[in-house]
Amino acid sequence: MKRLRCRNAHTSNKEGLSLTRFGEGMMGTEDRLRDLRARKARVEAGGGQVRVDAQHKRGKMTARERLEMLLDDGSFQEMDALVEHRCRDFDMDKNVIPGDGVVTGHGTVNGREIFAFAQDFTVYGGSLGEMHGLKICKVLDMALKTGRPVIGLNDSGGARIQEGVASLGSYAEIFFRNVRASGVVPQISVIMGPCAGGAVYSPAITDFVIMVDKTAHMFITGPEVIKTVTNEEVSFEDLGGAGTHGSKSGVSHFTAEDDQSAINLARELVDLLPSNNMEKPPLKKTSDPANRVCEKLDSIVPEDPTRPYDVKDVITEILDDGGFLEVQENWAGNIVVGFGHLNGSTVGVVANQPKMLAGCLDIDASDKAARFVRFCDAFNIPIITLEDVPGFLPGTNQEWGGIIRHGAKLLYAYAEATVPKLTVILRKAYGGAYDVMSSKHIRGDYNVAWPSAELAVMGAEGAVQIIHRRRLQNARDPEGERGRLIEDFEEKFANPYKAAALGYLDDVIEPNQTRDRLCKALGMLLDKEELRPARKHGNIPL
Ligand code: HXC
Repeated sequence: MKRLRCRNAHTSNKEGLSLTRFGEGMMGTEDRLRDLRARKARVEAGGGQVRVDAQHKRGKMTARERLEMLLDDGSFQEMDALVEHRCRDFDMDKNVIPGDGVVTGHGTVNGREIFAFAQDFTVYGGSLGEMHGLKICKVLDMALKTGRPVIGLNDSGGARIQEGVASLGSYAEIFFRNVRASGVVPQISVIMGPCAGGAVYSPAITDFVIMVDKTAHMFITGPEVIKTVTNEEVSFEDLGGAGTHGSKSGVSHFTAEDDQSAINLARELVDLLPSNNMEKPPLKKTSDPANRVCEKLDSIVPEDPTRPYDVKDVITEILDDGGFLEVQENWAGNIVVGFGHLNGSTVGVVANQPKMLAGCLDIDASDKAARFVRFCDAFNIPIITLEDVPGFLPGTNQEWGGIIRHGAKLLYAYAEATVPKLTVILRKAYGGAYDVMSSKHIRGDYNVAWPSAELAVMGAEGAVQIIHRRRLQNARDPEGERGRLIEDFEEKFANPYKAAALGYLDDVIEPNQTRDRLCKALGMLLDKEELRPARKHGNIPL
């Protein structure tokens, strides 16, 4: 039997687990296997039972439990389990836990390969040191090389304080890779614990952020620093909890009630998306007929053009089996964005919501929709736009907040997108907002309207007030005259036929035919190719 010389036969660490060190003593095959198994057991024990229990007590699962849930049974293949930190300061050399606080590897989600990492809060609080960071970098590099999505399960105290600038260096290596992979492979971040300081910038660069309610917190500076600097008092939850980022800041895209539902959401996203920018999204089988008549839609728009309705009822009526995964549901509700399927193909839906701010576009709605449109365009997902927009929201808040700059992002995103773009005008399409919302002029591929559509520079009342001011001032019966002029304007412009006559609309359709017409148009457009001039990159007004 071949024997190896070993240096230190055994060492033991804080948890009392015995390890055989390679290099001294004589080892047989069985010894070697026992040694390997002991090493792997040590890795799997993470920060030890006490810390695992504490993790469970907080309502959180461990990194390995989370990965097991994320990936198909038995598919997880771990990488770099034996990586150790190199820190010698602060007695860190006496506290080496192999794996270094992050579990990384690959596996499948419903049969499709993905890469994943899960930070292990039981090991140094999941803090990111040099080697921990480089393990994540390896996963990102592999994902990019092989064209597979990456899912990061974040639960970390941030930069590992003992490792100083080496930790910051590894963070930046991750950020760089997140940027390089952006638009090439889908990147999903699930925040399942603390995510503080500059650490937030990796999730922020990725495509989707899912936060677990109550246990996830994201912030640049914590409550104590804020108290010192600005004298504001704020709790962790109010500052950076899932509720805050899901409704106030728009940082997060989904809120999940616990670890399990967060992971289910991540799996659902993988099912919807292509593995990379060179592929189309997978087709989903459906028994919902493509030509299903949507009778409900014939009466969904109220007779009175000032009355609201819920555009989500339109969306679910049109999509396959009524399935719609809304993104950023509780932020900028005046625009609705999300994913569904049309005749089996993944589509992105962008819809003005008349139930909120009358469906006006404002700063947040423009940002929300622009980013969504760009995501769809990057990953070959056709965009369905459902339009009912009276214009941009007026007010000094909006003007001084830069609605010009933000609204321009949405215009830019739509104009830049070369995926199939299908637009249905349900009711109002006024002013600049008409142009912005995937109009023919910025290269909408299929633009139709319902008979209730009104395409005009502005609503009839505002228009009459401006173009007939003098006439109204001099009228003997100003109110009667105003009524007649409004009626006249509505007859001329508050309909889709002028635009249809100019070819700006491909057709005016019965609302009940919407699903049928969209499915047919999408079938015609699926192999569409459209090129833009070669350039380094455009200069989107950020
Ligand atoms: C090293 C850390 C750590 C860190 C936590 N731990 N954070 N070790 N570096 N950043 C360790 C703790 O010492 C402890 O070890 C274990 O993790 C669990 O931490 P607890 O404090 O016991 O847990 P809890 O009470 O739940 O509090 C969690 C916490 C808190 C809120 C994350 O630990 C905390 O505030 N940590 C510091 C956060 C921070 O300021 N990070 C730097 C942010 S700046 P033991 O051995 O006792 O179990 C940053 C910059 C990134 O990250 C820049 C990128 C460009």
